[in-house]
Amino acid sequence: MKVLPTSVLVLATASTSLAHPTPEKRAITDVDILQYALTLEHLEDRFYREGLANFTKEDFMEAGFNETFYNNIKEVSYDETTHVSFLTKALQGVNAAPVAECTYAFGITDVKTFVATASILEGVGVSAYLGAAASIMEKAYITAAGSILTLESRHSAYLRAAQHQSPLPQAFDAPLGFNQVYTLAAPFIKSCPESNGMLPVKAFPMLMLDASNLNIMTNAWITLDTKGYVVEKPADCELYAAWASVTGPTFVPATWEGNGKFKTSVPPGFHGQSYVVITTKRDCMTDDCVIAGPAIVEVQGVQGTEMMR
Ligand SMILES: *[C@@H]1O[C@H](CO)[C@@H](O)[C@H](O)[C@H]1NC(C)=O
Ligand SMILES: *[C@@H]1O[C@H](CO)[C@@H](O)[C@H](O)[C@H]1NC(C)=O
Repeated sequence: MKVLPTSVLVLATASTSLAHPTPEKRAITDVDILQYALTLEHLEDRFYREGLANFTKEDFMEAGFNETFYNNIKEVSYDETTHVSFLTKALQGVNAAPVAECTYAFGITDVKTFVATASILEGVGVSAYLGAAASIMEKAYITAAGSILTLESRHSAYLRAAQHQSPLPQAFDAPLGFNQVYTLAAPFIKSCPESNGMLPVKAFPMLMLDASNLNIMTNAWITLDTKGYVVEKPADCELYAAWASVTGPTFVPATWEGNGKFKTSVPPGFHGQSYVVITTKRDCMTDDCVIAGPAIVEVQGVQGTEMMR
């Protein structure tokens, strides 16, 4: 069987996603990075405002969250709105037209899912800012982006703790590339205004943890699923799962299970919200080797305790 060229899948995805990815590669500029950050902040901002419109303080309390938590969610919402206006002004300051809010489909029906999704979005936000940092040219923007990054990281820690997950599961957060973040954001985005223009990013076929995987620990077998995307195993090639980390990805073998599903295992050294892509080559996590993903995998346990055992 032959694999569908990723570019075909990308074009199929692009029509429903936030920007209109350019087919040719071009260098990412600081304005692109600001637009990219603003795109993510719009999504988060809208998410919290919608959630707070959907659910009352009483709804939160019925779901087991207290009044302090509810008030802090309002503060988080305010932070995201402020990030949107900050980035909007920064873009206007360099005579660029800031991207506008898109329409989104979050699929949230209860408070628990709202909080769980908020936590995942904050984690992705941290990895997005971290991954973009090295591409920023203008020093002043690095400080500005850093000051948002630390806040997103506190949001993430707070939301994790409120769900009885470790707020600090390991010593490093993982950076994610533009296309990886775009892949994770795209499923939430229904459409964007034409005027938003093009960002030089593309989405890979999405990859999701199969719902049958619960309480995932180090060395556990997991099943990943490209739900809704036709991805077939390329002929004569091995498959790997690449787990993102700041010191470079960890590669573990993956097997094709048919029906868009891949089986692989959780390597040591990954805890908390972790990211894994399927690749066609060992030691290659660049865009030409990636078949699908990232998938988000929550790995139980904390790194320090595991190391000291
Ligand atoms: C708000 O409610 C609508 C309608 O039920 C739902 O589609 C949407 O995902 C919800 N959004 C959030 C962030 O809770
Ligand atoms: C309210 O919930 C937060 C977050 O889970 C927790 O840190 C805090 O201790 C709780 N406060 C009270 C008064 O129970």
